[in-house]
Amino acid sequence: MTPEIDDAFAAIRSEHGPDSLVRVEQMLAAGKGDRHPLQKGAKWILPGISQQPWHDPYGHPELAPVVHALEADHAAIKKELETAWEARRQAFSDYEHYLSRQSDWQALYLFRNGGLVNESADTVPTAFRILKEEAVDTGTLCPLLECHFSTLLPGAAIAPHSDLWNFSINLHLAVDIPEECGITVAGETRSWEEGKCLLFDYSFEHEAWNRGARPRTCLLVDLWHPETTVPERKALVVAITEIRKLMGEG
Ligand SMILES: [Fe+2]
Repeated sequence: MTPEIDDAFAAIRSEHGPDSLVRVEQMLAAGKGDRHPLQKGAKWILPGISQQPWHDPYGHPELAPVVHALEADHAAIKKELETAWEARRQAFSDYEHYLSRQSDWQALYLFRNGGLVNESADTVPTAFRILKEEAVDTGTLCPLLECHFSTLLPGAAIAPHSDLWNFSINLHLAVDIPEECGITVAGETRSWEEGKCLLFDYSFEHEAWNRGARPRTCLLVDLWHPETTVPERKALVVAITEIRKLMGEG
């Protein structure tokens, strides 16, 4: 821990109580031993979070508003995405996963590096507005991560991997879904249903593929796991930001 982390944690504890950061401290001190086997690849596991790979997207009151808003405006979101893909392809870039970069996986970012990507407000206005109003302004988006349209080209496959941690959770709005696409999380395979959301804990090993004839696009949103508390979220932003700086990750 650095002096910056110690000072920030002390301030959070004085506001929220002496035990408010116990789980975060345990996470930062822990090794990788005491984990579900399918979470071994993740960097950080906050103890006490339910070990549940797939979630009901409507099952968490904090997250339901963004789920309902995205699904209600799916038609407009899809139309704007199609226009962007045809007319503003330069707005998309190779997706840079922290593990790899894939040219058959294209991304159009709406939130990245701690803030909204304002250039996307004109390109995909409906998704941008809903993201801002229902996730960013409400504090449900995890600002350590991002939101993007994720386009998997025909034939693309994302190899099995775990993402960074379990204290955020990944929401997918199925925007444009051809046949022969799927995603497996912790051994359970599901398909995207266009206009509907999937929600899963991506610290569990997962993989995805598009064996269809046209691109597959989902809108991906990194939300705070609903079992994290406000003081934990404050502490995690400070700690992970400091750790990234120390690791030279900006
Ligand atoms: Fe992933």
